[in-house]
Amino acid sequence: MKTILRSNFLNPVNHDKCDFLCDYCLTIDEQGKIASLEPYSEKLTGNNDRIVDLSNSVITPGFIDLHSHLPQYSAIGIGKGALLPWLSNYIIPLESKFSNEQFAHEQSVAFFNEALSFGTTTIVTYCSIHRHATSIAFETASDIGIRAFIGNSLIDLPNEAGYFSSLETIKSDIDFLVNKHHLTNSEKLQYIVTPRYAGSCTKELMSYSANFAKSNDLFIQTHLAENKSELELMKKLHPEFDNYTGIYDKTGLLTDKTLLAHCIYLDQTELAMIQNARSIVCHCPTSNRYLSSGIMPLVDYQKMGLRIGLGTDVAAGYSLSMLNEAKEAIETSKSYDISKDENGNDISAANAFYLSTKGAAENLNIADKVGTIHIGLDADLAIFDLDIKQLSANSEDILRSLIYKKFNQSAKAVLIAGKRVYGSL
Ligand code: GUN
Ligand code: ZN
Repeated sequence: MKTILRSNFLNPVNHDKCDFLCDYCLTIDEQGKIASLEPYSEKLTGNNDRIVDLSNSVITPGFIDLHSHLPQYSAIGIGKGALLPWLSNYIIPLESKFSNEQFAHEQSVAFFNEALSFGTTTIVTYCSIHRHATSIAFETASDIGIRAFIGNSLIDLPNEAGYFSSLETIKSDIDFLVNKHHLTNSEKLQYIVTPRYAGSCTKELMSYSANFAKSNDLFIQTHLAENKSELELMKKLHPEFDNYTGIYDKTGLLTDKTLLAHCIYLDQTELAMIQNARSIVCHCPTSNRYLSSGIMPLVDYQKMGLRIGLGTDVAAGYSLSMLNEAKEAIETSKSYDISKDENGNDISAANAFYLSTKGAAENLNIADKVGTIHIGLDADLAIFDLDIKQLSANSEDILRSLIYKKFNQSAKAVLIAGKRVYGSL
């Protein structure tokens, strides 16, 4: 039996444009793919089809979060201070607890379910350093049905908390996780190589990570240039490199499948390295303010043509809602203008929406499956109740209304590959 959703659809096109389709019908076939999308008419509905009236709702593609930390979920809103003390005072002690598998399971369930409730259907996440906790995260994501890129944090530089592993252990952890989980149970789950940041990795680990990712055609995720004290730490730990980005460039970590979170403090040479490598910048505006890290110059980067997406960065970001992150991307672009006494850097809602959906899917090489609402793609959809009768049929107005009214609210329902994974229809 096919399912037909009668509703209103927001479909991202590019940084400047989003289509709004008022009173359309979307048909989902038995394989969970989008079979048709056309204006409502009575004759559309065959006898055997299930028709769901969602006239008072708006449907978007499921959101894609490019940067988050599963083991930090319970630390949302906890802790004060800048990045490095925040990490050592709150985060490393919390992540250390993931050696307990029961705790790892409870936290994984809570994390993925909350992401789903906000309409996120694909999430890229860090786990703790532990192979078993990371394996549990894969199993939980598989049970829940969310799409995810999951990696154990790779840390081999010793620290006071003892939260690190030897390079030999890390190599065996990676082999274990890739063999057990990468594209094995379902095409929804991928292993992502996760050297945490140059502040916690030796050159040997970074080079090993880069070579492993290259030989196995895997994505890589790390952090870059988030905070000024972090830049000083890099000079101390890796003095042989000219700058922070150079560490990743020279160890082979800058690839067209590398996600770089934050990217606030970069000079022109470093930006050119990222651009040449076609690496992906993950903009995390909520986190960047929470830790008083700084403001990433989003529009400047977009004008340069850098590849960019949005990340919640929970728990430095205090919400797993991508509508919240979209709102913060818009609001932060205004703060940038204020701080520079400039105009014109404030981004449109269409831009923030594109970064949270289609743009992110393109960056993860999954735009042939998800990220937009088109025939033949998987039906990954977020459905929000929204009274659009009072609004003009202008997509920018409707998007703004969605973002600013729903940023801290759950979706009415969420589908992945046509299957309901949250809420009710
Ligand atoms: N840099 C290295 N690790 C982290 C982390 O867990 N959160 C953030 N925001 N930055 C980091
Ligand atoms: Zn992060």
